[in-house]
Amino acid sequence: MLQTLEVDFWDNGSRHLPLIHNVHPYFGKFSSAIPNNAITFFSKEGDTVLDPFCGCGTTLVEARVLGRHAFGVDINPLSCLISKVKSTPISVDELANVNKMLYNVHEDINLFYSQDTLSKRKIQTYEMLIPKFKNREHWFESNVLNELGIIKAHIYALDNKDLRDFCLVAFSSIITKVSNQSQESRYSKVKKNITPSLAFHLFSENIEKMRQAIKDFDFIAKDVNTLVFNEDTKELRSIQNDTIDLIVTSPPYFNSWDYNLYHRFRLLWLDMYTDQLRKMEIGAHLTHAYAENSIERYTKEMGECLSQFSRVLKRDKYCIVVNSNGILNGEIVDTNEIIINEAQNSGLVLEKRIPQKMLGPHFGRMKTLPEVRGSGKQKIEEVLIFSKH
Ligand SMILES: C[S@@+](CC[C@H](N)C(=O)[O-])C[C@H]1O[C@@H](n2cnc3c(N)ncnc32)[C@H](O)[C@@H]1O
Repeated sequence: MLQTLEVDFWDNGSRHLPLIHNVHPYFGKFSSAIPNNAITFFSKEGDTVLDPFCGCGTTLVEARVLGRHAFGVDINPLSCLISKVKSTPISVDELANVNKMLYNVHEDINLFYSQDTLSKRKIQTYEMLIPKFKNREHWFESNVLNELGIIKAHIYALDNKDLRDFCLVAFSSIITKVSNQSQESRYSKVKKNITPSLAFHLFSENIEKMRQAIKDFDFIAKDVNTLVFNEDTKELRSIQNDTIDLIVTSPPYFNSWDYNLYHRFRLLWLDMYTDQLRKMEIGAHLTHAYAENSIERYTKEMGECLSQFSRVLKRDKYCIVVNSNGILNGEIVDTNEIIINEAQNSGLVLEKRIPQKMLGPHFGRMKTLPEVRGSGKQKIEEVLIFSKH
């Protein structure tokens, strides 16, 4: 075991923090300083790091920059796509092929608006790719549906999977902006000034931004393996026993975000939406806010995850969990205590708990911590350091 555990998880130092972290909106994202400091302190080059709730891949990007192999796991297929794209360098030559695709999209969108002849075959292809869902026309204007359909058809036609995934992330990140949804986490309709070709322009802007970000990342990424699995962390099927040198993660907070709900339109557009996802997601607000046994359910589910962490971690290695308490019916639920108990039941030993300082992974550089859902009570975020003996 390490002699001292004096780590400043929030210290940004003068390190280069890759642009790639910001290419797609994601709720509950870590500050990249947290996994960066954790990985630097608790592991060495060539080790294998796991983030079993990898979200949009912050830990995986940092692991790659620091020369550690990494596995990411998330129940949400969109999270896995974003994580994979952010942690996978693409060669400059391959990225150049995106220009041809953009040119073709532009041409088809111009043809569409000029009422000219987009071939029947093309119309059929892109119309087939526009997802069908309830109240679709309420949330998307008809021109936007067509533009998105055309863009998607051209992305799906790309041969190279890495390039296709890269473009899908650029596509996904514009969906809320071109819909009538007021904000990322609010489902109220607003009138936006959506001009013809806006979807195309936002998409090409994003491609450019991502291209810069991936080049910048490519420059500092080390030659290690990064793999992302879309599966349930309660089972963690793809990870073998005693193979992980370090776990760095932030689990879904109790009764807090609804990842599947906030990304619903994106999941629909990417043909990833399933009802199953909603049922398997831990902590989700809509699941917990109105259920009778929600604390018991959360405790059981986190217990299953923590016992998987213990199974896959090597002996004498560390597991770093960043968590915040939650609130239910106006009462604080001390989920840090729940996690500590469940971890100890699974054979992990609590080495240290460090309360959040002024900035946490989820709140940026705020001077004071936000209240928990209008309760007048503050969120307490902690870094919990466990080890396996
Ligand atoms: C707090 S976020 C992690 C954010 C991540 N640290 C980042 O920087 O992007 C928690 C993640 O847990 C995922 N999750 C929820 N239930 C899960 C389950 N049963 N199995 C795997 N992942 C799950 C959510 O989809 C979400 O991406």
